[in-house]
Amino acid sequence: MEGRKKRVFASTISPTMVFLLLGFAVLVMLPMVSATRFMVGGRMGWNTNFNYTTWAKGKHFYNGDWLFFVYDRNQMNVLEVNKTDYETCNSDHPLHNWTTGAGRDVVPLNVTRHYYFISGKGFCFGGMKLAVHVENLPPPPKAAPERAAATFLSSKGQIFLMPIVFAIGAAWDSFIYLW
Ligand SMILES: *[C@@H]1O[C@H](CO)[C@@H](O)[C@H](O)[C@H]1NC(C)=O
Ligand SMILES: *[C@@H]1O[C@H](CO)[C@@H](O)[C@H](O)[C@H]1NC(C)=O
Ligand SMILES: *[C@@H]1O[C@H](CO)[C@@H](O)[C@H](O)[C@H]1NC(C)=O
Ligand SMILES: *[C@@H]1O[C@H](CO)[C@@H](O)[C@H](O)[C@H]1NC(C)=O
Repeated sequence: MEGRKKRVFASTISPTMVFLLLGFAVLVMLPMVSATRFMVGGRMGWNTNFNYTTWAKGKHFYNGDWLFFVYDRNQMNVLEVNKTDYETCNSDHPLHNWTTGAGRDVVPLNVTRHYYFISGKGFCFGGMKLAVHVENLPPPPKAAPERAAATFLSSKGQIFLMPIVFAIGAAWDSFIYLW
């Protein structure tokens, strides 16, 4: 009985159909899996001799994304401050101390606003200061879901999902043909 049902399924639903359905499902799900974890400073990490204003320029930080600070735990730290203290490198009254002690701190950007981070211990004066503006995710236009997904693919660096769609499609094809 079970086997017969599966055979009917395989003969009436074409592999191409399965591929299209799976592809569509992944595209629809994309906005939910699009949170990005930014490695602050890229390969340089949270360090001296680096311009974090330049690093942040052109990047989009969306509500739900994360910042990941990697640094020498014996020297630097990660303090969230207000705009004034960011500009003057004042670490005397941080809004939030994100330092955990491991030299690897994760900051959730879960509010739509400006965030200001500095390293205390004098390093802010050497350029260890970062300002990011967190935006709300642009609502996907209902009339053109494919286009919205395409925007995600290019702007959020999740191109790897496309090969997965193809791989799943191909796997299904061979699975059904072998049946
Ligand atoms: C930042 O905090 C300092 C000290 O608490 C305060 O004097 C200053 O006005 C604040 N700046 C802003 C923009 O809130
Ligand atoms: C921040 O927190 C860490 C870990 O709890 C602590 O060692 C450090 O002294 C704190 N720094 C500031 C400036 O509050
Ligand atoms: C944002 O994340 C912080 C730290 O995990 C948490 O304390 C805070 O409640 C969160 N805020 C919102 C609006 O989710
Ligand atoms: C970083 O670069 C910006 C321009 O992108 C410049 O305005 C700023 O002064 C630089 N900051 C430092 C600390 O050199």
